Amino acid sequence: MTAITEPEAELLAHFEHTIDRDQRLEPRDWLPEGYRRTMIRQIAQHAHSEIIGMQPEGNWITRAPSLRRKAILLAKVQDEAGHGLYLYSAAETLGADRADLTDRLINGRQKYSSIFNYPTLTFADVGVIGWLVDGAAICNQVPLCRSSYGPYARAMIRICKEESFHQRQGFELLMTMMRGTQGQRDMVQDATNRWWWPSLMMFGPPDAESPNTEQSMAWKVKRHTNDELRQRFVDMSVPQAEVLGVTLPDPKLSWNADREHYDFGAIDWDEFQNVLRGNGPCNTQRVAQRRKASEDGAWVREAAAAHARKKAQGDE
Ligand SMILES: [Fe+2]
Ligand SMILES: [Fe+2]
Repeated sequence: MTAITEPEAELLAHFEHTIDRDQRLEPRDWLPEGYRRTMIRQIAQHAHSEIIGMQPEGNWITRAPSLRRKAILLAKVQDEAGHGLYLYSAAETLGADRADLTDRLINGRQKYSSIFNYPTLTFADVGVIGWLVDGAAICNQVPLCRSSYGPYARAMIRICKEESFHQRQGFELLMTMMRGTQGQRDMVQDATNRWWWPSLMMFGPPDAESPNTEQSMAWKVKRHTNDELRQRFVDMSVPQAEVLGVTLPDPKLSWNADREHYDFGAIDWDEFQNVLRGNGPCNTQRVAQRRKASEDGAWVREAAAAHARKKAQGDE
């Protein structure tokens, strides 16, 4: 065991004081190794989720039913690419290397949100992803705008604004389909049935089984527990489902007047763990596609690096 040296104790006190005062930690500040590692892991996982999340919806760009829907979907998928890039930049301020993070994703050493391992079977899935998946992302991310790490918190402000556009476009698309034919209404209901439970899983394991929550709350990296955020999402979604006219696939869903929250049924955590282990319907395909994109883009990165070297030499 190494003893904490005098200057380090002082730095640690400053770090804790910054968190106590609800101020942000910045790249120039001294950070304990555990905090740095946790932040890199969380930001990288978030960045990977944005980038992998482009795939399920990107699948529908060429088959969008109108020019308007295509333009909206294209803009949304591009936003997700942008979110990934802000977040990789935030991870770089902590000393992470972007190429190394991509390698870790492709080699299965870092995770992304397991929601993106489910397939998009019809165009209604595009609407339901906007409504539920981006909706859950907003619940998770709004409190992160006050996260203790400055670059992450600031990236989250812009990301949340764009996520709320994503959520609305999804809801508006579903409203349009619900006013259409019976066949369209059936598609919306079917997509809702498939995405509802995986959306609830997006908040992570129950608090009792979430090993990192306590430390992340103490560091103010996280502001609410998984179960609190999940409850908030359920409470928000039930009235929205009523407006849409779809049924959420949970017979146990009911208003609890004492708690002033909706009760809901048990989540199938075995399914969650199974998808997390790589056995979801699309895990292999998602990672293979990301690997191919990285390999196909290698010449662009090499050319850009060669150009930068040449310019640097010329400027000498
Ligand atoms: Fe996003
Ligand atoms: Fe989004």
